Amino acid sequence: MAPPAIDRSTNASVGRGPNFPGSGTAVVGLQWGDEGKGKVIDLLAGSFRAVVRYNGGANAGHSVVIDGKRHALHLIPSGAFHQGVMAVIGNGVVLDPDMLFVELDRLADAGIRSLDLAVSDRAHVVLPWHKAEDAAREIALAAITDGSGSGGSIGTTRRGIGPAYADKAHRAEAIRVGDLLRPASLRTKIAHVSARKEAMLRALDPSGAAAASLPAAAKMTDDLIRSGERLRPFVTDTMYLLHHMLNQGHNLLFEGANATLLDVDHGTFPFVTSSNCSVLGISTGTGVPGERLSRVIGVMKAYCTRVGGGPFPTEQDNDAGNRIRERGREYGTTTGRPRRCGWLDLVALRYAVMLNGVTGIALMLLDVLSGFEEVKVCKAYRLQGKTTDRFLPDAEALAEVEPIFETLEGWEAEISGCRSRDALPAAARAYVDFIEQAAGVPVDIVSVGPDREQTIRG
Ligand code: GDP
Ligand code: IMO
Ligand code: MG
Repeated sequence: MAPPAIDRSTNASVGRGPNFPGSGTAVVGLQWGDEGKGKVIDLLAGSFRAVVRYNGGANAGHSVVIDGKRHALHLIPSGAFHQGVMAVIGNGVVLDPDMLFVELDRLADAGIRSLDLAVSDRAHVVLPWHKAEDAAREIALAAITDGSGSGGSIGTTRRGIGPAYADKAHRAEAIRVGDLLRPASLRTKIAHVSARKEAMLRALDPSGAAAASLPAAAKMTDDLIRSGERLRPFVTDTMYLLHHMLNQGHNLLFEGANATLLDVDHGTFPFVTSSNCSVLGISTGTGVPGERLSRVIGVMKAYCTRVGGGPFPTEQDNDAGNRIRERGREYGTTTGRPRRCGWLDLVALRYAVMLNGVTGIALMLLDVLSGFEEVKVCKAYRLQGKTTDRFLPDAEALAEVEPIFETLEGWEAEISGCRSRDALPAAARAYVDFIEQAAGVPVDIVSVGPDREQTIRG
């Protein structure tokens, strides 16, 4: 029997439906982001009722390539290209309405006009002062050097993510999506808060440029009220909506943004983002408890990359790294910055598999390694003369480690036409087996190119 349809109204009964218990599948990045989560979500989304973002904001850049055409998504879940799949933005997301509208318009241009979108009334809103503060802090930090010539900035995407989450924790100055639907109180609140934000920006940037970049409070309020009106049809209590769907027997796909090693609690602090991007963020970021998850798919590259500052033990600032960057088109989807490239770090991988309770791996961009005579993997770290297989989720500690590499045989042939594991060159097959062994979980998906078709399952 088909489960009943979804009632999105805010007073709908959540239902119990013990005969139709749906379950959740999570897709999370296991490294420092850009592992190819967008492609994996797009591949899987058709079998789910909804794809749900639970963390981050427009700092994410998820590329989906369909029939050779590339689509970049920042806030809208990557399942948007499938008919009948609801796109849900959960309460844990920090939402920049202008960025969302740009994306909706782009999707409409690409032929997706009737996106079934639901936005949490409890998602926090990224405001102009958050973006101004993000940039001003980065500029101020860059001026503080550690003596080695490198700046002290985090290298954020400047999308206002940190300041928006900080306001969530501060509480009084935060604006949530639900507030955009209450114009009178919004106007009063913006008027009060804007004076304090302007003063804060003047202190951060004495030139006055950051403060001067803010729109006047009245204009900002008018813009936000307009945004609220455009958002209104999508806004609901997504926590009830998701439980309703689960209780009706529907399965949900949770889309991680950013990645495990950028998790604010478990990543390479302070060079992290400001949310729990690992699977652990799903509960707080959607209101769906972890026990409803039946599968956790960890997405990893066949090597490592990182954008922004922070330690990266296996980084190859040399020909090998440059070659990976060019073959893998390793330039940011959100900022266009060249990504730092290096060999696979198994210490970090095992940590991420453990932390997320990964049940299966999607191994991406294997095609990028074709043509290397040999491929290296880091099996352990050396720290103060001792060998350790523990990851160190602290930037200062991790910067001290030296990677211990093992060298594996490379392969010459291009593999983007391979559609089964057996069709891969022996050394590529051995590389996949090696990763499976080291991670202790099966590799369910091997990706050999950006397109949907360039995928090996099972
Ligand atoms: P996300 O943030 O995890 O969704 O990843 P991004 O979309 O930022 O970056 C991954 C990049 O790799 C995108 O440009 C994808 O189109 C591309 N990509 C995904 N899988 C593969 C693959 O198997 N091979 C190659 N060459 N590119 C891939
Ligand atoms: P996706 O979802 C790669 C990095 C930034 C910076 C740090 C903090 O595409 O994998 P922020 O703007 O969040 O305050 O920046 O985190 N970062 C990402 N790097 N991919 C991402 O997302 C990222 N999201 C944040 O480069 O180092
Ligand atoms: Mg990305």
